Amino acid sequence: VRVPTPQNEPILSHAPGTPERAELQATLKRMASEQIEIPIVIGGKRIKSNKTDTVRMPHKHSHVLATLHEADASHVEQAIQTALSVKDEWARMPFAERAAIFLRAAELLATRYRPILNASTMLGQSKTAHQAEIDAACEAIDFLRYNVHFAQELLSQQPVSPAQTWNMMDYRPLDGFVFAVAPFNFTSIAMNLAVTPALMGNVVLFKPSNTAAYSNWYVMELLREAGLPDGVINMLPGDGPTVGNPVLASPHLGGIHFTGSTPTFQSMWRTVGENIARYKQYPRLVGETGGKDFIFAHPSAADDLDALATAIVRGGYEYQGQKCSAASRIYVPESIWPKLKPRLQEMIAELRMGDITDFRNFMGAVIDEKSFKRTSSYIELAKNSGAEATILAGGEADRSEGWFIKPTLVQLTNPRHRIMQEEIFAPVVGLYVYPDAKFEETLRECDACATYALTGAVFARDRKAISTMMSELRHTAGNFYINDKPTGAVVGQQPFGGSRASGTNDKAGSMLNLVRWTSPRTIKENF
Ligand code: ALA
Repeated sequence: VRVPTPQNEPILSHAPGTPERAELQATLKRMASEQIEIPIVIGGKRIKSNKTDTVRMPHKHSHVLATLHEADASHVEQAIQTALSVKDEWARMPFAERAAIFLRAAELLATRYRPILNASTMLGQSKTAHQAEIDAACEAIDFLRYNVHFAQELLSQQPVSPAQTWNMMDYRPLDGFVFAVAPFNFTSIAMNLAVTPALMGNVVLFKPSNTAAYSNWYVMELLREAGLPDGVINMLPGDGPTVGNPVLASPHLGGIHFTGSTPTFQSMWRTVGENIARYKQYPRLVGETGGKDFIFAHPSAADDLDALATAIVRGGYEYQGQKCSAASRIYVPESIWPKLKPRLQEMIAELRMGDITDFRNFMGAVIDEKSFKRTSSYIELAKNSGAEATILAGGEADRSEGWFIKPTLVQLTNPRHRIMQEEIFAPVVGLYVYPDAKFEETLRECDACATYALTGAVFARDRKAISTMMSELRHTAGNFYINDKPTGAVVGQQPFGGSRASGTNDKAGSMLNLVRWTSPRTIKENF
């Protein structure tokens, strides 16, 4: 039996007067008026702990959404034992039966769970309705459906068998459990980190980010309702090292599926290295980490300045610049700058920011106080950089009600300024204007200053310039866009991932990722 190639889930507009808008607004109202408890989930049991955290709305930090129960080392031990106890049964379940659970989850999410996941992502992570819809609804549904499709393709990859012989690839799960460590910025990614290994027959310890545990808890509820057996995915919210250290010390660690910061992934990798002799197998390390994603314009981009300006504004400021793919360093030639500059300033000045339940707002708040302080320090840095930095837009922050940072554009005369090199993960974008005659030199500069290599976009109409950019920036981005913004990869269309300090580039939303969660056995039988 083969499922047909999926179609991408259509994006609902939530425009005034649509039924989805009324439903989402009612759900937002209901959820904002309740305060829930988010438990640890082990073997399907909801467990409370002595250590709790409060989950608040980033755009209204006085509003508590939930009490979060945090896991400690004993919960980790319990989760490992539970996961291992259900592992064989889960792994032996025919693929079609496992797949059906995730396909059913996709259908539940496309219907009844859609407003719940959208509303929880909006309230807990400060996404606008559109940003929640393309993440917690569409991308999550796409991951569920396409993963099944790609898994089928993978399982059908079989060696040749000459006469009298049968050669087979038995796509076994990893021998142990997978540790899925999720970021706050995409509900779909959090879900995918746990679901992809599970689809291939693995059992999972899932650690959400505390700042996204609110929506991630509803993901767990969705999967339970879709029929996922208890113990296959166990949720352990809490402090990174408190949960992570005992997990990484377990001899049964089969792999890590991580999205988050570069330093955290590097630290986990080091711990795995130190523990390497303890493990039953070499753990698979799959990580998507930081980014310093660029937009590079060639003089021939003058033909379509609107497209370039829109890409900078949408790529830089949608979801407050907190996408790993967000544009954060821009290179513009002198010849187009006089026209582009006022257009950008005008567009940025028009961006509305505020409570995301007001659907007219384009931006909400950054995720938490830590991010607010860090981002404010980069704005201070711009202010203290003298002639090297000019703030062209924004440059203000307001913490009185929520963690609000105005969309900020900083022009730098030094392409190696820290704002052009360091990941800020917030709506602060650096911009460098280069002399047209130094096009190729500046391309090399763009590559040389990149410790990260996640996404990037080039704008040009001149075909030769496009070729030069593609070749000079070959290793500067794992997702490379020509005349488009660097955000918004669509599952099944643009497999996602970067190299260098941005990750292991095991493309999410493709067979290349699924293959990492198998440990194939080659079988030969003579007849
Ligand atoms: N899929 C997300 C994007 O490309 C990460 O923006």
